[in-house]
Amino acid sequence: MESKGEYLSRREPAQEQTAPARREMIRTENLVKVFPGGNRAVDGLTFSVYEGEIFGFLGPNGAGKSTTIMILTTLLAATEGRAFVSGYNVSRDREQVRLHLGYVSQVLAVDDALSGEENLWLQAGFYNLSRQERKKRVDEVLELVGLQQRRKDLVETYSGGMRKRLDIAAGLIHRPRVLFLDEPTLGLDIQTRREIWSYIRRLREEAGMTILLTTHYMEEADQICERIGIIDHGRLMVVDTPANLKKSLGGDLIFFDFAAATGEEQRERALQRLREQPFIQKISPRGSEAHGFVAVTADGEADLPRFFAALAEINVKVSRVTLKVPSLDDVFLAFTGSELREEHGDKEKHMQERFTMRRLRT
Ligand SMILES: Nc1ncnc2c1ncn2[C@@H]1O[C@H](COP(=O)(O)OP(=O)(O)O)[C@@H](O)[C@H]1O
Ligand SMILES: [Mg+2]
Repeated sequence: MESKGEYLSRREPAQEQTAPARREMIRTENLVKVFPGGNRAVDGLTFSVYEGEIFGFLGPNGAGKSTTIMILTTLLAATEGRAFVSGYNVSRDREQVRLHLGYVSQVLAVDDALSGEENLWLQAGFYNLSRQERKKRVDEVLELVGLQQRRKDLVETYSGGMRKRLDIAAGLIHRPRVLFLDEPTLGLDIQTRREIWSYIRRLREEAGMTILLTTHYMEEADQICERIGIIDHGRLMVVDTPANLKKSLGGDLIFFDFAAATGEEQRERALQRLREQPFIQKISPRGSEAHGFVAVTADGEADLPRFFAALAEINVKVSRVTLKVPSLDDVFLAFTGSELREEHGDKEKHMQERFTMRRLRT
């Protein structure tokens, strides 16, 4: 499509020649935000997001995700440290930064009483564009979020997912190269979340955008992000690909229980036997259950038959066996010591809405 070609061909020539294999589109150096009253919402963040990447900030409520995004989008000043978007310093070159980024806040900013198209026309009006150019851009973004068919309908007739897609489209009118999506699927049902995910992927694949999103949904981070930064109390605990994060826990997990009739001596012999097996990295008791253990192995599926064979040799029986590939939940727990809650309390939601501003206009 020619409209997508526009996205692909937009470049900033001044920075291109020096570009290494992967260009840093977002970079922060020891970023700190202390709110009046002393709340250290962001506490020394250093990270980079590379061109064409979907990078996810995963963390619970109050972790500092939105505050970081607001600093990067120039809506909030950092207390310490530096940040760059598309090579521009967010505190010194604010206008340039704003031209290069799109920001879609946690809260919908579309007008229900207008059609989808009218909303976008309004948004396009904030930029100094000819009528013809505006029309082209509106068509282009409607296409990107799959709303061409419904463009003339009032937004009040749209589903939740369509509203969010329109909101994202409005953030794309000025053809930013870097897009910030704060909790893009907050409050949407899982079906609709999946649909939004496919559009987010499409923005990367067809428009070549670099995307930083925040989420407290584990599955979202796992499904669409190439790299994830786990953030808690304003600090990055770890940054890596979802696959590596899961691997960092040391392999697959075999949960097993010894059969009820297994005596203590027999159990100790079996554990000894299992520990001698080269494919077993570690065995630990599972909580308070005397018969329950978990073994860590490099490749659960291949190791499971060996696991059974080792026990059969000494004639020890197990009752329940479950193979588990570590989930991001397990990783999150390991790095932060707490579980990620999926749902917001109303109070927290209210707080977040209070701090959310409407989309940037340059
Ligand atoms: N304008 C503000 N003034 C004071 N405290 C704030 C303000 N905005 C956010 N906070 C606090 O900063 C911390 C991080 O908030 P936030 O960045 O919204 O987290 P997240 O987006 O990860 O849920 C929270 O403790 C929150 O209450
Ligand atoms: Mg937030």
